[in-house]
Amino acid sequence: MNRAGKLSEEDFLLFQEFLKEETGLYFENKEDHVLCGALLERMKKKGHGSYEEYYHYLKYHSESRFELRELLNLLTTGETFFFRNMPQFQVLMRDVLPEIIERKRKVGDHSLKIWSAGCSKGDEAFSVVIAIMEVLPDYKDWNIVILGTDVNRNVLISAREAIYTARDVGELPEGYVEKYFTRKGSDYRLNPEVKSLVKFEYHNLSKDSFGLEGMMGADIIFCRNVTIYFHFETTKELISKFYDALSDGGFLFLGHAETLWQITHSFQTIEYPETFIYKKTLKAVNSKENKPKQYKPTIDTTGFGLEKIQESVTEIKIKPVEEDADFLKAVILANQEKYEEAIAIVSDMLKKDKLNVESNFLLATLQCKQGKMAEAEQWFRRVIYLVTDEPMVYFNLGNIYASQNKFVKAVLEFKNAVNLLKNKKADEPVRFGEDFTAGLLLQICKRQLELFEKKH
Ligand SMILES: C[S@@+](CC[C@H](N)C(=O)[O-])C[C@H]1O[C@@H](n2cnc3c(N)ncnc32)[C@H](O)[C@@H]1O
Repeated sequence: MNRAGKLSEEDFLLFQEFLKEETGLYFENKEDHVLCGALLERMKKKGHGSYEEYYHYLKYHSESRFELRELLNLLTTGETFFFRNMPQFQVLMRDVLPEIIERKRKVGDHSLKIWSAGCSKGDEAFSVVIAIMEVLPDYKDWNIVILGTDVNRNVLISAREAIYTARDVGELPEGYVEKYFTRKGSDYRLNPEVKSLVKFEYHNLSKDSFGLEGMMGADIIFCRNVTIYFHFETTKELISKFYDALSDGGFLFLGHAETLWQITHSFQTIEYPETFIYKKTLKAVNSKENKPKQYKPTIDTTGFGLEKIQESVTEIKIKPVEEDADFLKAVILANQEKYEEAIAIVSDMLKKDKLNVESNFLLATLQCKQGKMAEAEQWFRRVIYLVTDEPMVYFNLGNIYASQNKFVKAVLEFKNAVNLLKNKKADEPVRFGEDFTAGLLLQICKRQLELFEKKH
């Protein structure tokens, strides 16, 4: 029986803030069973009778650093396997690695730097080695640095051992298990050559500087299924550091349910039928070139990139139905970030014609830009009152709720959008979405759903 009882709101807030600061991990719910289980286990081990006592030990004791590591081993989930998210590995082998290799060969540079950030027990980093061996026959003539980092010391021990189970290797393409592993009973031991190409190090993504070899100037950074547990601000800072760490033309791979939505516009989004990745293109920043684009004309993509959603609320992209001079003026002012002036014009317009759908939508968007989410919500609701079947409105509402951590409501709105989009043709334009297609918006809403369904 645990003497500490239930975690009080007060104690929960202390741990929540502490863990956010120290690790980036953000627990929203005081009933979170991972958090409660980990705290109780460590308290029992260290003989602390109350959460408060344990909190003080964790925060102020001279040995607290070691205790935090122990706690982190329990708080972090290391689910991973080889070639996880197969479409991304296909893109890696078919497009990304060949592009980097060709670019480097041209300038006589025979080096590759790849970082698996939040690598867990190594499956991701070793999958990258296998991918390189497959596409670069003369890899031995290259200077290859592959770094795997994690904050959980237990997974790092496993990574260095590189002994896997049938489940870990179950998704590998045919023939790869035989080629890259040696079977011993139920163990799949990674061949020493693959093993030797990765270095595993302890590193806390939310705290530590990017000083290890393989970080700065990286050609590719994988940070998949790590930031889903982070606070939004931590993710934002981390992504900006990844941007600085990547070399020009470098790629960022995020997890299936992770996007740069509301996080940054710096990367170019490259969309494939079943996945998307991000690219750092210095030359294209702040220029038209930085618009999302299809990676190769031969690939059948469903639309443009994810940056469209980043623009949908944050940039004013409404096509006025009638060329109303005041409306155009408001849009121009909005694009110059003169929101107050734009709002004044649209408000006047609405006094004269309160049923004008475009004006209502524009006002809602302007309120979003001002960070006035409650007002924005009201105006989007008025749009729904006027036109009930425009997916872009539900999509925006979903994003507003998500930004307020109201995930149940967000999920409902994304579902509304999905239901409306399902009946549209993939290449059909979306009202209020400028050059958004129904197909692209549907993909994005589904991803948002996947992400937020986990959170509520
Ligand atoms: C679910 S695993 C993902 C493993 C791999 N990237 C994949 O997608 O298969 C998440 C990993 O992120 C690590 N992690 C969590 N917070 C971290 C932090 N602040 N710094 C570094 N790693 C962290 C966890 O320890 C865990 O091993």
